[in-house]
Amino acid sequence: MNNTPRPGRDDARRPRRLRADGVRSLVSETGLSASDLIAPVFVDATTDERVPIDSMPGHERVPVDDAVARVEEVLATGVEAVMVFGIPEFKDDRGTRAYAETGVVQRAVRQITAETDAYVITDVCLCEYTEHGHCGIVEPGAEEDPHLTVENDESVDLLAATAVSHAEAGADMVAPSASLDGMVGAIRDGLDEGGFRNLPIMSYAAKYESAFYGPFRDAADGAPAFGDRRHYQMDPANAREARREVELDVGEGADVLMVKPALPYLDVVADVRREHDHPVAAYNVSGEYAMLHAAAEKGWLDLDAVAHESLLSIKRAGADLILTYFAEDVAESL
Ligand code: PBG
Repeated sequence: MNNTPRPGRDDARRPRRLRADGVRSLVSETGLSASDLIAPVFVDATTDERVPIDSMPGHERVPVDDAVARVEEVLATGVEAVMVFGIPEFKDDRGTRAYAETGVVQRAVRQITAETDAYVITDVCLCEYTEHGHCGIVEPGAEEDPHLTVENDESVDLLAATAVSHAEAGADMVAPSASLDGMVGAIRDGLDEGGFRNLPIMSYAAKYESAFYGPFRDAADGAPAFGDRRHYQMDPANAREARREVELDVGEGADVLMVKPALPYLDVVADVRREHDHPVAAYNVSGEYAMLHAAAEKGWLDLDAVAHESLLSIKRAGADLILTYFAEDVAESL
């Protein structure tokens, strides 16, 4: 009746041959290594003690004086890079503690770079530092009028000042995450004028307005007090727009291109990989971490296995670097 050979019976092709132990690892297309991972670290100027972050089991906000110890814990797992986030001593409408010489990130970075060999990346944004929780200064009246939003160009100048102050404190790389137009170019200019021509920028180039950031906003205390971020972060419905966003950042001098979140946006990771030669980073965000933990806590998932599989998938999609709350656990298991 049917002359087509049945695969695996009459056909010479049997994919199973390469799945045997011994050969599996030889033919494996993707590998995970601790040197690809970046661990987020939260430094909190309002506390003298470590404060566990409930929605992110295993993570804590640490006082400035504990920043070095926290980073040493990361290094002990084999992870060599950290992303430093700060919770300031106070917030105001212009986020002044984001670019203060004595700010929480600046103080922590000075100590970390003086006392450890970690590669130190800093998150450059204003949302943890503004009392309204937006990623820049807001237009007058924004509180009442949902059509008003973050004032772009003036905010970008503050982001540039923030990046320069991080560089002055010793940061090895800056990672602007505010999703404002022209942000990367302004930071590049600021760094160049400040004598930091060789300091690279990892841009959160395709950053979506995602509900997966929920636990982070608890951790860093950066939820907007009114409105949301849909006027500056990307619409989850859009993939082609990510190309334009990434292209702009490349033109403005971004050295590493990040996609965020990671797992729900692997199509975008793969597309950026295809379109650009730059290193591609993906941010496996707080919600991606929290949901696996929650399911594992119920006994529904094997946490180590799903964490490993998640990071492998992100690499398979084309990311070179992964920023993840699983960094330490996965690195230890490798
Ligand atoms: C700051 C920033 C956010 C995250 C990283 N940097 C919050 C946001 O954009 O709302 C989220 C990271 C995570 O969820 O793990 N803008």
